[in-house]
Amino acid sequence: MKNGLKWGGLILLMLCGQMVLAAPKTVIPVETGHTQLVMVAQENGVLQTLYYGAMIADPEAFKAFRTGRGTDNGEGPMAYPTAGGRYLGQPALHIRYADGTHNTELFYIGHDIRSKGDVTTTEICLRDQVSSVEVKLVFDAYRKEDVIVTHSEILNGGKKPVELLDYASGSLYLDANQYLLTHFYGGWANEMNIDSEVLTHDTKVIESRRGTQVTQCSNPSFLLSLDADRLQENEGEVIAGALAWSGNFRLSFEMDESNRLNVLAGISPFASAYRLAAGKTFVTPDFLYTYSQKGAGQASRNLHAWARNYGVYDGGKVNPTLLNSWEGAYFSFTTETLLRMIDDAASMGLEMFVLDDGWFAKDYPRNGDDAGLGDWEVNTAKLPEGIDYVASYAHAKGLRFGIWIEPEMVNPQSNLARRHPDWIVQAPGREKYQSRNQWVLDLSNPDVQDFVYGVFDNTMKLSKDIDYIKWDCNRTVANFGSEYLGEQQDRFFVEYVQGFYSIMRRLREKYPDTIVQCCSSGGGRVDYGALKYFNEIWTSDNTDALSRVYIQYATNLIYPACVMASHVSAVPNHQSGNVTPLKFRFDMACSGRLGMELQPKNLTERERALADRCIRSYRQYRDLVFSGDVYRLASPYDGDYYALMYVSQDQSRAVVFTYCVKYQNRAVGAHPFRMNGLDPSRKYRVTELNTDRSCWWGSGEVHAGDFLMHGGFNPVLQKTFDSAVFYLEAE
Ligand code: DGJ
Repeated sequence: MKNGLKWGGLILLMLCGQMVLAAPKTVIPVETGHTQLVMVAQENGVLQTLYYGAMIADPEAFKAFRTGRGTDNGEGPMAYPTAGGRYLGQPALHIRYADGTHNTELFYIGHDIRSKGDVTTTEICLRDQVSSVEVKLVFDAYRKEDVIVTHSEILNGGKKPVELLDYASGSLYLDANQYLLTHFYGGWANEMNIDSEVLTHDTKVIESRRGTQVTQCSNPSFLLSLDADRLQENEGEVIAGALAWSGNFRLSFEMDESNRLNVLAGISPFASAYRLAAGKTFVTPDFLYTYSQKGAGQASRNLHAWARNYGVYDGGKVNPTLLNSWEGAYFSFTTETLLRMIDDAASMGLEMFVLDDGWFAKDYPRNGDDAGLGDWEVNTAKLPEGIDYVASYAHAKGLRFGIWIEPEMVNPQSNLARRHPDWIVQAPGREKYQSRNQWVLDLSNPDVQDFVYGVFDNTMKLSKDIDYIKWDCNRTVANFGSEYLGEQQDRFFVEYVQGFYSIMRRLREKYPDTIVQCCSSGGGRVDYGALKYFNEIWTSDNTDALSRVYIQYATNLIYPACVMASHVSAVPNHQSGNVTPLKFRFDMACSGRLGMELQPKNLTERERALADRCIRSYRQYRDLVFSGDVYRLASPYDGDYYALMYVSQDQSRAVVFTYCVKYQNRAVGAHPFRMNGLDPSRKYRVTELNTDRSCWWGSGEVHAGDFLMHGGFNPVLQKTFDSAVFYLEAE
């Protein structure tokens, strides 16, 4: 432990022939502006979590607190439960020692609190007397954002190696009568569907074992509504949390016989018993959570504010609008195709052109998804003038330039696969299964890390005019294994992710200003671990605006709008086949980071005019999308509309997005929404954008904030795919 540690003043007592610890009770509150987590080191040294909720003026009151609920789970709500001792629930930490035993009993040694700006860090040291294993629990409390970020540091203080069988980042004990768990599931082009269930006794587990592309099943995040049957937007107690880890993860929710809930979040232990040598420390990833008394809305706003200020690379900074070549050209383009797309992007007022897949590999040219990955040289048969020619053309037209890479992967049809078969993720003697005709490179190997770093670095060297990299990752791991790791195969899944982060750290040192998108067949890598290094995510390969209503609604429950890349594409939509009006597509894409992904020359004159108009108006309010507070006015899961608004921090400006996702017959008429987050005492001019015929009678007029929030905002959105965007400015 560091200097400045307050020691708990422990006394060793002989009790029943055993050494036990005795000390005065110590209350350790972890406090944000409005919330409080209270842990108490009991007289026997066991550290318990007794409270997480709204701020209580005197947390010392918990000194006398008794849990009151009988339980067979021994030591009650332990702050970091272990296998061993009297704890019978799912442990956060489970160690197998060299002698084959499994018991760890952690007792409080001391704690340290320090503050820097708005962040207070509390470190609590726990120790197992028999094995000399020490665990440091670290809590960073973000005052303004009301977010707590925790992780554990597990030190093998013994003389022999140990195996970590479970090693969660953190544990949270909650006390309510009922818990509604909201979590996310999905697949390719169908990310972030919502599941909600009232938890029953025993354990609910949410886990991903995919190695890469881990979030194209579940997402490592959740919301828990206390004593409620449905997820409420503006009322009720909600705890929202997320694990910042881009690999296999496990969240578990264990309700004991007296209804107490233990939440554990951490790396999935699947095939990952981690050997920790004597004297070594394992640092677990961050587990972040927030508490709200104002429903999911406030919980999201807390997480988003934290993400913008601390959790996302350059979070909250406005990223450029763009035209991406993928759905407009796929693999079939020439230099001429790209230059004309750049011309069109510039004339529509977009700010960047991104050249997607298909520009590289000579011997095995990347003209389809079956060849070329690994051979990162420009395909000069396709682009004879090279990348610099295209990038500088974009710059000359006033656009920035971005380019796609997928550096963690290799096609069997590539020079790399022939040169370095040992770099491919594989298990000896077993099939190397292909997916999208490709294999995964073994990022646990430092040579591979250097190679992957080099792919990014060398691509950047193709032109001084590269401003943006789209980093893709298009498959999961099968028949996992690493030639490099030899007998230590248990480390593979963890060291893959650590290798990925180490590459990203190095790249960020060299390229602090490059905008980097995290794409993994769309939203396969959406987590706060990756977002420390990436500016944005490719939210989904599904660009259908109707599908995006649901995908973006759910993504935005946990992740801020500034990271959600959202593109207008052609109809019929290439994934869903849906035909939606261009305005609906724009209005949807404009609620995130706006882009277009189609062949502009296929747009009619009228469509071009609408595109120009929507892109221009987006620039007027997009700072609100990137850094405003979100207020959801209608959930597409609850009714026939999706509506949300972003409000500036000073409440002087706002933008409102409204979408009708189901036909309303005439009898139903106009739907009233209640705006939110405005200053009720101020007056706002409300103007509908992107149309000459407003669907709301009050557009262009000045209205009182309280009127808009409680009374009369009822745009007529009657037909499926009717949509409207309103801009508000305080007078
Ligand atoms: C998957 C991505 O999600 C798409 O946007 C596109 O970049 C393709 N890969 C290219 O192969």
